[in-house]
Amino acid sequence: MTTLTTGSPARRRLLLASDRSDQSGELAAILQRAGEVETIPTSDIPEVPANKFAGIVVDINLRSAESVQRVRDKLRGEAYRSVPRLFVLADALHHGSMQAWALGATDTISRPFDAQSILQRIRSAFPDGDVYDATASGKALNRGIAAAHAVLVKIFDRLPTGIPLAFSDVLEAENQILKAIKRSSLREWLTAVGRHHTHSYRHCLFVTGFAVAFAQHLGMREDDQRRLARAALLHDVGKAFIPVEILDKPGKLTDEEMGQIRQHPRLGYEALMKQGGFPPEMLDVVLHHHELLDGSGYPDGLRGDQISDIVRLTTIVDIHAALVENRAYRLPFTHAKAFAIMEEMGDKLDQHLLQAFRPVAMGY
Ligand SMILES: [Fe+2]
Ligand SMILES: [Fe+2]
Repeated sequence: MTTLTTGSPARRRLLLASDRSDQSGELAAILQRAGEVETIPTSDIPEVPANKFAGIVVDINLRSAESVQRVRDKLRGEAYRSVPRLFVLADALHHGSMQAWALGATDTISRPFDAQSILQRIRSAFPDGDVYDATASGKALNRGIAAAHAVLVKIFDRLPTGIPLAFSDVLEAENQILKAIKRSSLREWLTAVGRHHTHSYRHCLFVTGFAVAFAQHLGMREDDQRRLARAALLHDVGKAFIPVEILDKPGKLTDEEMGQIRQHPRLGYEALMKQGGFPPEMLDVVLHHHELLDGSGYPDGLRGDQISDIVRLTTIVDIHAALVENRAYRLPFTHAKAFAIMEEMGDKLDQHLLQAFRPVAMGY
């Protein structure tokens, strides 16, 4: 049985493959807010998806070998290679998450459903239909955000479950990110990613936008733009190992919680070292992006020349992004105020580099 429900306005088309017809109504109702939803049993997943689908949402019992096999057979086809796929896990403890990733999940959600979070994930990772934004710049923007988002899913959702992040995962996203900022604008990038529901994702997407826009403003070679995009995407990889309750805590952090957060550069560095294959400068950014030139930063209290250029640059865009983002506990600073705060940080930051950043920070 196929049910076609038209969302309004017509935008992306989503395939909801569900073997839980009694339970799929709630999810379908949420998904309809992001586009048109077609609900089918997994036995009806077509061999070749019509191009018109922006992505597939799979709601099956991941503990049933039969269901998993059926979905695997369908989605293994070449035709599904580039189709984003969101899997529903049984519960927040991520039972079944290994099966989902093995089936090529690009993202996962769990019951009970958080409608706002699901919609955010769909909007970030499932490209809009042509009707929604047919312009070349709009498409480039969507593709760039989707590519960056996919890397962040690998960092924040997969890494803590023990699935390693590969350097190639990051490389794949770079082209799309560079194109997105070049063909649209930093303003559009920030507006689009600013709607993201999860703070850590939003932060990394902001930092990436600022980093690439800064690199392009400075007229860096494409090579170097890539290195920066990569550094920005990865810089907070260690936050994947910090409990979300602490990262997203609406109030002031206790000393102990602050101590835990300050572990993130080291945790990220160790994870990437263990994985291997990451260039030394990436490890340098991950470990040292909270170092300050006057030696007052952490974890190593480096100063001056001990801090490399790519780290200095990442630190500037990281702080600026943090200041202009919405946080649970305060309103964001304006770009001008954020820039002024950074000027007042004096010899903690590379003030020459900061002045070069001014047009990007103020004129985006
Ligand atoms: Fe950080
Ligand atoms: Fe950061």
